[in-house]
Amino acid sequence: MQFLRIATFALGLICSSAASLSFAQDISAKIQVCGACHGPDGNSKIVGTPSLAGQPKIFLENQMVMIREGMRDIPAMKGQLDGVSDAAIIAITQFYTSSPAISQAGPRNKSLFEKGQVISKEALCGTCHLPNYVGREQMPRIAAQREDYLLYSMRQFRSNQATGRDTIMSASLYGMSDDDLKAIAHYLSQLQ
Ligand code: HEC
Ligand code: HEC
Repeated sequence: MQFLRIATFALGLICSSAASLSFAQDISAKIQVCGACHGPDGNSKIVGTPSLAGQPKIFLENQMVMIREGMRDIPAMKGQLDGVSDAAIIAITQFYTSSPAISQAGPRNKSLFEKGQVISKEALCGTCHLPNYVGREQMPRIAAQREDYLLYSMRQFRSNQATGRDTIMSASLYGMSDDDLKAIAHYLSQLQ
């Protein structure tokens, strides 16, 4: 099934952008490798690894360039984007933006969910990430992201340890307690 999805995508790539067969084959092979960690359709089932499905185009392209250039250092991804062309990054991005984000969350904790909803609203996260948190341009989708990854990345931003990342986030989270971050992560992970 997954092979079919990637093969269909590769075919569409050749038809729409006049890409060569070998280019399309290279992209398909890459996407399969990425899928081992990020999930075959971009919805990650692995702790600490973010979902890429349904992310805004600009966010994904920017992050991949940052990772390729070593500006955002991700040890787990060492070498994965080495020498990958801009054209390939654009094609890989097309695969993930066209794959719907599916929440990987477990059962909902009602009081934690509601607490997270209130804090996210009061902290105006939606002014950048959009009111339904699906992101736009360079601002990532945070709805339906993995709960553990949301918590991990917010902790990084809050403690100014998010090396190579846009620190516009740190101010939004300044002074929040760990319980606040846990509530936000729980809430956002449950959204679609
Ligand atoms: C061995 C596992 C692994 C493989 C293979 C892998 N990644 Fe990752 N990737 C990660 C982890 C872990 C993170 C998050 C690290 C962090 O934030 O500290 C990440 C983060 C990312 C991010 C940033 C997402 C965000 O929401 O901030 C992008 C984009 C990305 N990977 C794309 C890719 C692409 C494209 C491929 C294939 C060419 C790939 N990755 C292969 C493990 C992997
Ligand atoms: C001023 C705009 C702005 C506001 C307000 C904002 N964010 Fe962000 N956020 C961003 C940008 C831009 C990024 C991408 C950072 C990067 O490029 O590394 C980001 C990244 C994130 C990430 C990392 C996601 C990932 O996949 O890597 C999380 C989680 C997040 N924001 C949560 C929040 C929460 C929760 C709030 C409210 C408390 C919030 N943001 C408010 C702009 C904003």
